Amino acid sequence: MTTPQELPQMPAGFVWGTATAAYQIEGAAAEDGRGPSIWDTFCRRPGAVAGGASGAVACDSYHRWRDDVQLLDDLGVDAYRFSIAWPRVLPTGAGAVNRAGLDYYDRLVDGLCERGIRPFVTLYHWDLPQALEDAGGWRARDTADHFADYAAVVAGRLGDRVQDWITLNEPYCSSIVGYAEGRHAPGAIEGHGALAAAHHLLLGHGRAVTALRAACPGARVGITLNLSPAVPVSDAPVDRAAADRMDLLLNRQFTDPVLGGAYPEGFERLYAGVSDLSFRQAGDLQVIGAPLDFLGVNYYYRIHAADAPYDQPDAALRSACDIGVRSVPRAGVPVTALGWPIEPHGLYDTLTGLASRYPDLPPVYVTENGIAQLTDDQGPDPDRIRFIAEHLAAAARAAADAPVDLRGYFYWSLIDNFEWARGYAPRFGLVHVDYPTGDRTPRESFHWLRKQLVSRSR
Ligand code: NOJ
Repeated sequence: MTTPQELPQMPAGFVWGTATAAYQIEGAAAEDGRGPSIWDTFCRRPGAVAGGASGAVACDSYHRWRDDVQLLDDLGVDAYRFSIAWPRVLPTGAGAVNRAGLDYYDRLVDGLCERGIRPFVTLYHWDLPQALEDAGGWRARDTADHFADYAAVVAGRLGDRVQDWITLNEPYCSSIVGYAEGRHAPGAIEGHGALAAAHHLLLGHGRAVTALRAACPGARVGITLNLSPAVPVSDAPVDRAAADRMDLLLNRQFTDPVLGGAYPEGFERLYAGVSDLSFRQAGDLQVIGAPLDFLGVNYYYRIHAADAPYDQPDAALRSACDIGVRSVPRAGVPVTALGWPIEPHGLYDTLTGLASRYPDLPPVYVTENGIAQLTDDQGPDPDRIRFIAEHLAAAARAAADAPVDLRGYFYWSLIDNFEWARGYAPRFGLVHVDYPTGDRTPRESFHWLRKQLVSRSR
C-alpha cells in the first residue's frame, strides 16, 4: 500500500502535467485585438461573480507566460494543458482571423517545446465570443460549424508543433451550468435551450475532430468531460432513481453519445414535457461518436443524490437542471474548503465504470483533479499533497483492475487563478499568486511534486 506522501509507480511513458485555462489566467482581455467573450459580459452582471471580480487581469499570463513556462520546467512535468481563447483568434467568433492573438499562442507553444514540455491544447474552455452568443450561442446549430472552422484555423497555425488536442472542456458546465443553472456565462435558466446547447456542443466537438485531423494529420484528438459518480443517499427506490437521473444528466448525456454513438436510455423520458429534443438531426450521432484518440476525465468529487421535489411543477417551464434531485452532504466524508467531498475512490469508480460501460474506451488522461484552499497563504499545503497522492493511487488501482489505458495525470492547477463565479478566493494552485502584483510563489506541494518527478527523465 502506498503511503499518502508518495506517488504510485506509473508505467513508463505516463504523462505528468498541470492544467490551466485562458480566461482564468491570461488577463489582457482587451489587448491585441481580442474580442469580448460571454465571460467578460457575465462578470459585469451585478451579483454574478463573487466580489464583482473578472478575468480582465487574472494572473496576467498573457504577459507573464514565460514565468509560467519556467515554473513548469522547474516542476519537471512532461506536459502542460492550456486553452486557447476563441475570441483572441476570431474576435467575433467567425470571419477575420486576429493574427496577433494567434501569435501569442505561437510564442507559448514555442516556449514549451524549447523546454521539452508537450502542449495539450484545449480549444474551448467556456469563453464563447460574445458575438456568437448574441446570435443564439450554443443554442444555435451554426455555433457548432463556427467552432469547427475555428479549430481548423488554430490547427493550421499550431499543428506543426501541437499533436494533442482537446476539443471541449466540460460541456456539461458550458451547457447545463451556463444555460440551465445560470451560475456561469451566459447566465441563462432554460430547459429546451440548455439541452440544445449540450447537443450543439457535442456536434461542434464531432465536427472539430474532423477539422483537426484534416488540418493536422498526426493529431491525437480527445474531449474532456467532468465525470462524477452519482450515488444514492439511501437504498430507497426513490433515491436510487434520483441518482440515476443525476447520472443521466451529468455523465451519460455526454459519455454515451461520444463513446457509444447514442443518447442514453431514459434521457427522453427525463425531459418529457421540457423539450421535444427537435434539435437532434439525422446523422448527428455519427459525427459526435467519431472514434477518439483519448478521453480526458476531470474528476473532483462524487455526488450524493437524494430524491427531492421539482422546483417547478410545470414541466414546460422547467430548467434542464430541475430534475427532482438534491445533492446532500454525507456525514463522515471529509470535504475540501469548497465543501466538495474528498473521495478518491470516486475516481477509481469513474475509471472502472467507463471501462465496463464502453468496450472500445480509448486511452484515458485525467485532465483535471485538484483541491482548493480559501486561505491566501503560500503554504504549507499538506492537504493538497495528500489529495494528489490518494487520487493517483486510486487511478493506478483502477488501471490495474480494469482495462483502462491510463496515460497521464494533470493537476488543476499550476497557479492560483480566477475560479469563475467564485472569483479569486478559491486557490487551487501548486503555485501561489499574489493579486494584484501577479507574483508567483511555489507552495510546498510544488516542491513535493518536483521531488517526485525529478528522479525521472522527460
Ligand atoms: C473544472 C474546470 O475545468 C476549471 O475551469 C475549474 O477551475 C476547476 N474545475 C475547479 O473548479
